[in-house]
Amino acid sequence: MKHSKLAMALLGTVLLTVSTPLLAADKLDIGKREYDASCATCHGANGKGKGSFAEMLQVSMPDLTLLSRNNGGVFPINYVYNVIDGREAFKAHGTREMPIWGKHLSFRAAPLHDDYPYDADVFVRSRILAVIDYLYRLQVK
Ligand code: HEC
Repeated sequence: MKHSKLAMALLGTVLLTVSTPLLAADKLDIGKREYDASCATCHGANGKGKGSFAEMLQVSMPDLTLLSRNNGGVFPINYVYNVIDGREAFKAHGTREMPIWGKHLSFRAAPLHDDYPYDADVFVRSRILAVIDYLYRLQVK
């Protein structure tokens, strides 16, 4: 019994030591983490539109690695920002399949700041910009 506890403790220490640098490096890429958590189910891990949820949608999925190429080689940052945020576009176009991330992120800001005043829009903007930075890095040349 004592031995197995010691073994578990040692194993825990080894795992922690091995995984900490990986976790730390991963944490820095907020855009990738947000993309993997919020977008990959539909847009696919590589942005090409083959996420597990995509086949349930009645629309053809855009290829997010071609945003620049489809815009004459220039990344269309304003367009992409507005599509992701969705609050303005939603008002203008009625329905759409893509979630309104501006609203989702705004709700997510609240529990992270429950002890002090905050501006939900700052959280929304920084998350969207981090995802945009990641999308920019996914663009084909
Ligand atoms: C529930 C599925 C779903 C999720 C989750 C989702 N999207 Fe989308 N997205 C779509 C669909 C479908 C479209 C095509 C337009 C439409 O029908 O709304 C789209 C369109 C887009 C476009 C416009 C592409 C173009 O070529 O015009 C961008 C950019 C985009 N999504 C980014 C994201 C990002 C970033 C996230 C995560 C924060 C995300 N999407 C999460 C379904 C989704």
